[in-house]
Amino acid sequence: MKLTIDDVRSRFIKHFDGSTGSVYASPGRINLIGEHTDYNNGFVFPGAVEQGIIAEIKPNGTRKVDAYSIDLKDRTQFDLDDEKGPSATWARYIYGVCREMMALGVPVQGFNTAFAGDVPLGAGMSSSAALESTFAFALNDLFGENKVEKMELARVGQRTEHKYVGCNCGIMDQAISVLGKKGQLLRLDCRSGEYAYFPWEPKGYQLVLVNSCVKHELAGSPYNERRLQCEHVAEIIKQSHPEVESLRDATMEMLDEVQGKITGDEYKRARYVIGEVERVLAVCDALQHGDYEMVGKMMYETHYGLSKEYEVSCEELDFLNDIAKEEGVTGSRIMGGGFGGCTINLVANELADHFKKTVVEKFEAKYGKKPIVIDVVIGDGSRKLC
Ligand code: GLA
Repeated sequence: MKLTIDDVRSRFIKHFDGSTGSVYASPGRINLIGEHTDYNNGFVFPGAVEQGIIAEIKPNGTRKVDAYSIDLKDRTQFDLDDEKGPSATWARYIYGVCREMMALGVPVQGFNTAFAGDVPLGAGMSSSAALESTFAFALNDLFGENKVEKMELARVGQRTEHKYVGCNCGIMDQAISVLGKKGQLLRLDCRSGEYAYFPWEPKGYQLVLVNSCVKHELAGSPYNERRLQCEHVAEIIKQSHPEVESLRDATMEMLDEVQGKITGDEYKRARYVIGEVERVLAVCDALQHGDYEMVGKMMYETHYGLSKEYEVSCEELDFLNDIAKEEGVTGSRIMGGGFGGCTINLVANELADHFKKTVVEKFEAKYGKKPIVIDVVIGDGSRKLC
């Protein structure tokens, strides 16, 4: 069921003083291609989805934030000037955003808030970025006269992950959550911050997510370790190629030159990233020519790389990828950080119904539980609803 303003407003009224505030929303995301490239300064190609977070917020004239998570039925207060902040992770996202907006000079005041979401948690669809973007966008509107530009709002969310949650993520999830546009994918250059919108109007195809329901949490996962491995390889290459600041600038030849100076794992990680940066550009090009077969081929290559070289897959995701291949699906791969969550599938319309049915049956026969199939609709980024 789609989350509505009323779902949130009714709880806001119930849990606070009966009055209403302003309502904001931000989406989760899909990513067509460009995985683990963002923190290597490469390109990504995400789109916002219709599912997201909705929050009602009202200044309360104090220095305290009083927050209610409708989904978790949990309420927490924290002081904006407190150096430590709350301990519940969901509240730390809000606290981190407040503190980072304050650090930018936005005169954030205390507020009451209730919020809920319909992005599946731990599915690799960036529920946490949706939460951060909702509050960054709202605080900018309520207290900051909308002076902070959108890309900086995304960085507020990213810094929140780094400093208050412990995930050294890239910028993709927050950027697309803030900048998303209905019916458009976003090609983002994570080094320069430049971006361009590409209409997503696949003729004869559709995007389908299959959620393995294997839950992943990036904080505390090997995600941060992958990032360190990539940075280490870039440093070694830089010793002989000073122009290389990150793996974005490296080539396979450069990587081969340093093979003896890095570990076997580091070699595989970097090989994947260098290939993936090229694949994003190839996919953008293929899309402009309506070459969906090429898009799909690249998606399978990405899956192979994420599974065998970057090693962020799991048995269930590899199984979902195998089923897609057997069923003649045009493209399929792990989406997001990995270690669980969804595959994203580019499916010809005439195969779609059969695939959606078969993938559920085969997965259930093997693992005894049903995966969740989600039809992708590309939606809008952060916005005020009322
Ligand atoms: C997570 C991170 C992103 C990105 C992806 C992998 O979603 O938050 O920054 O690194 O994983 O592409």
